[in-house]
Amino acid sequence: MGKVIAVANQKGGVGKTTTSVSLSAALGEKNKSVLLIDCDPQGNATSGFGINKQELEHSIYDVIIGDWSLSDIIINTEYKTDIAPSQIDLAGAEVELVDVPEREYRLRSAVEKIRDSYDYIIIDCPPSLSFLTLNSLVAADAVLIPLQCEFYALEGLTQLLHTVDMVKENLNTSLEIEGIVMTMFDSRTNLSEQVEAEVRNHIGDKVYKTTIPRNVRLSEAPSYGCPIFAYDPGSKGAVAYMNLAQEVIDNG
Ligand SMILES: Nc1ncnc2c1ncn2[C@@H]1O[C@H](COP(=O)(O)OP(=O)(O)OP(=O)(O)O)[C@@H](O)[C@H]1O
Ligand SMILES: [Mg+2]
Repeated sequence: MGKVIAVANQKGGVGKTTTSVSLSAALGEKNKSVLLIDCDPQGNATSGFGINKQELEHSIYDVIIGDWSLSDIIINTEYKTDIAPSQIDLAGAEVELVDVPEREYRLRSAVEKIRDSYDYIIIDCPPSLSFLTLNSLVAADAVLIPLQCEFYALEGLTQLLHTVDMVKENLNTSLEIEGIVMTMFDSRTNLSEQVEAEVRNHIGDKVYKTTIPRNVRLSEAPSYGCPIFAYDPGSKGAVAYMNLAQEVIDNG
């Protein structure tokens, strides 16, 4: 049965989507069957795989709000990853979900039907602790938290961990912390090193050995509509995400 991992942090721009796309593609490179669910109305993971959001007839919106199944909307990409795409109409789901029965379980029940078809299902969450993030945490076996190597890295983490605890107590008792990955590490600054050391001191046992470096190739790849392994497989960013994927596999 596939493992479902939600990539979440309510802070914006910390590397959730870069991690979702690159980790999914890396697991694919390692011959795992992977589905990436884009659960962010921004649809960055969708365009990161070269999918034109404007041309989508159906998306994750139809699964969460309508009665579509994931298999109806999944797109097979040429990058060893399937994707359940998202577009801006998903922003409306936030409000529409208020009236939907079992609203926290919408994504979970959709995922249950297809999880046997994949080794890994990765969910890219939006930058908020919204219904969409809640749906993702309820659907997941584990949450993977990207933390940017910056001064305020730990700010917000307490709130996120509290939310994870609440979900665990009330909605999804089997939810685990998959791990915390430090992102955008800049070896030229002392700050990155200090922040990494501080985070490892505080919560070291949950932090992956792999740290993702700041690497311009990672930020360029989405504009070519492909994951880093199709754009520059030898880059530092690609190597780091391969190492992260191996750690995720080794964690079981
Ligand atoms: N390791 C990295 N090196 C260089 N640039 C990076 C790296 N990781 C992410 N970026 C860039 O930083 C920006 C934010 O990254 P990303 O979109 O992955 O964050 P996010 O948490 O998904 O953002 P949001 O909260 O808006 O969904 C993007 O422009 C991305 O290309
Ligand atoms: Mg994102």
